[in-house]
Amino acid sequence: SKYVQVAIDGPASAGKSTVAKILAKKMGYIYCDTGAMYRVVTLFALENNLSLDQPSELVKELDNLVMTFDYVDGLQHVYANGIDVTNDIRMPDVTNHVSKVAAIKEIREELVNRQKAISNSQNIVMDGRDIGTVVLPNADLKIFLVASVKERAERRYKENIEKGIMTSLDELQKEIEDRDYYDSHRKESPLVQASDAIKVDTTGLSIEEVVNVIENELKKVI
Ligand code: C5P
Repeated sequence: SKYVQVAIDGPASAGKSTVAKILAKKMGYIYCDTGAMYRVVTLFALENNLSLDQPSELVKELDNLVMTFDYVDGLQHVYANGIDVTNDIRMPDVTNHVSKVAAIKEIREELVNRQKAISNSQNIVMDGRDIGTVVLPNADLKIFLVASVKERAERRYKENIEKGIMTSLDELQKEIEDRDYYDSHRKESPLVQASDAIKVDTTGLSIEEVVNVIENELKKVI
């Protein structure tokens, strides 16, 4: 690609979107949160009572689901057919069903196509589970972000409290472990570190420290 591509993958709550957003802003690149796209499809399925076990109807309805993103006061907003679903896609019900949706082959194909289209015309930082392996296999920089499950649960717990969502720490840790297991063991594009990705363990590191590590790696390749 003639545009710079940064792929950031890793398990749930490793800090991908936080650092990806800051890095994108610093570099003047656009940011694409691919997890938000799987979440929008999940919300759409739940709201319209579309089966996740027999997903043919959901797959068909995808043609009628337009997703857009914009920034309001520096915060990314996500829209489904023009309706702001930024907060709705973070609700526990969506989180608890999203991995099932993300395991559906036809849905992945469609979203990967949309993600490739987004990255075709601008410098980009994209985060997800299969960015370095499937979506942007020729990315200039691939980062695989990890952290201990305990620290990831604690981070999610604090975020939730700020949003007024009450879930116990134990429950969050189990949810994260289950989702990672499911995402890593599915047949279609499982969560796996690309062979040419740089692993960054963020346990005990501040957001600024993680951003600096990635920025230094990026400066070596662009
Ligand atoms: O990043 P986030 O936690 O919002 O992602 C939600 C879910 O979407 C993940 O647990 C995974 O099942 C799915 N996902 C995926 N591929 C991506 C991004 C997210 O399968 N590129």
